[in-house]
Amino acid sequence: MPVHGVTKLFDPAQIDAAVARIAHEIDRDYAGEDIVLVGCLTGAFVFMADLMRKLDLDAECDFIKVSSYEDQTLPGEIKLEMDPARSIAGRHVIVVEDIVDTGQTLTFIRKHLAAKKPASLDLCALLYKESERSTLPRAELRYLGLVVPDVFVVGYGVDRAQKFRTLPYVGYVESS
Ligand code: IMP
Ligand code: MG
Repeated sequence: MPVHGVTKLFDPAQIDAAVARIAHEIDRDYAGEDIVLVGCLTGAFVFMADLMRKLDLDAECDFIKVSSYEDQTLPGEIKLEMDPARSIAGRHVIVVEDIVDTGQTLTFIRKHLAAKKPASLDLCALLYKESERSTLPRAELRYLGLVVPDVFVVGYGVDRAQKFRTLPYVGYVESS
């Protein structure tokens, strides 16, 4: 049942299809390889949980956390809060993010992880926001689920001030 004030953009079946397609692409691209999924906390944990269960490959999982929007305010300086627990040197790494807006967060994470000398480093995002603020071209995401308009998106792990993560669908908050 839709939560009051949230307009649905993608229902669970549409999200499921997008996640399944990405899992298929990863299985195809990394057949026979050892991969490490590095999920960006907190928003990507729901996407990552669904994605890993759709993979035929056996992927290791780790997480990274950086500070980003605390609520709806503009993004400030990006700061590393938690590094992946294990070494990614020489590993095939796929960064798993919930949503890309300006791209600053993923650009920061890519640079930070690249310095650890992984064998390869790909970017995967469930959602990409079409906006003029974007500094990360869509083509730099090897794996992308769905494109959203320039609105404040919530649900399926994505929050607004820590709320709305539990929604099984993706929507946007009206009057935001
Ligand atoms: P960036 O602008 O691409 O750096 O995005 C900054 C962070 O804010 C990302 O890690 C996203 O998780 C989060 N974010 C960006 N857009 C939205 C949104 O529409 N709703 C909720 N979180 C968002
Ligand atoms: Mg985030």
